[in-house]
Amino acid sequence: MPDLRTTYMGLKLKNPIIVASSPLTSSIDNLKKCEDSGAGAVVLKSIFEEQINYVAGKDTSMNAEFLHFSDFQDAFDNMSKDYYIDQYLKLLEVAKKSLDIPVIASINCTHIDTWSEYAKRFEVVGADALELNYYPIASNASVSGDRVDRDAIAFARAARKMTKLPVSLKIGFEYSSLANTIKGFEKEGINALILFNHFFRPDIDINEMKPCAGQTLSSEYEFYESLRWIALLSAELKKIDFVGNTGIYSADTVIKMLLAGAKAVELCSVLLKNGLGTIAGMLCKIERWMDEKGFKSLADFNGKLAQENMSADGAYWERTQYMRTLISQ
Ligand SMILES: Cc1cc2nc3c(=O)[nH]c(=O)nc-3n(C[C@H](O)[C@H](O)[C@H](O)COP(=O)(O)O)c2cc1C
Repeated sequence: MPDLRTTYMGLKLKNPIIVASSPLTSSIDNLKKCEDSGAGAVVLKSIFEEQINYVAGKDTSMNAEFLHFSDFQDAFDNMSKDYYIDQYLKLLEVAKKSLDIPVIASINCTHIDTWSEYAKRFEVVGADALELNYYPIASNASVSGDRVDRDAIAFARAARKMTKLPVSLKIGFEYSSLANTIKGFEKEGINALILFNHFFRPDIDINEMKPCAGQTLSSEYEFYESLRWIALLSAELKKIDFVGNTGIYSADTVIKMLLAGAKAVELCSVLLKNGLGTIAGMLCKIERWMDEKGFKSLADFNGKLAQENMSADGAYWERTQYMRTLISQ
């Protein structure tokens, strides 16, 4: 039987399928179901910076859109800051005691100072790693792209100093130079990057003429940008592990991510739509594909189609036009 084990941020995973931060990982019962369904690791639901700020009375900007998206919608009531942190730490602690697979804590944040005091407590209760969902919106027209990129790297530097745990960043692709910014993350010692997050999308209800939440779940065609950027950078930036995220709905797409050089994938929408049983089905199909191709372990094909490893067509992943498709029609 092919060996599906992978190493991600130094953690040993029995297979590359990680359940992404979501309601699927928000309680011990759900986390156990993830493990029983064959997941290689889990990322706990995030604790939100807004959650901490809100209860600390620092943030008056939290709006209805955020509440709509947040898993914590029901919880923002007259609770103290410590209540949320303690609850989260309890979940983490019990998860570590109950599960054999790695458990990764998660924080949604744009500012380092808000949560830094808690990083140590994550270490103490045994988190295997820390995933930071970093989501600044560059909406200030007087702030340059270069400044946005440099702020992101400064965030990574501060995050790295905050904890001894492996640290990953889950990011979007809205940087003036994504490749250079990612190189900056690597230089600062960030251990892994999850490409890309599927952020909350504001929409408009034309009947009510009010803002409302857009489509929450991703679709199966949204994986291409992640695939492109993992293929472009995974073999060049060797000190950082890449994880495919958004729009991964099939074993075929998981295999594509691994061929592009991802060490693992994070799944959410497909599991919310089709159930956790999807994981076993995917693992089975990956094994079958490996058998057919004669691959005994992931290392036999991981990164085979990353740009640096494709000497015959080294610029393939930089293509943005459809020239060949148009010419052949
Ligand atoms: C209902 C829901 C809740 C989510 N909550 C979180 C969260 O708390 N923290 C986080 O980092 N990502 C959260 N996400 C994003 C997912 O972890 C994942 O990155 C995203 O949905 C893209 O993966 P997918 O295409 O497999 O869904 C959430 C997604 C959904 C649909």
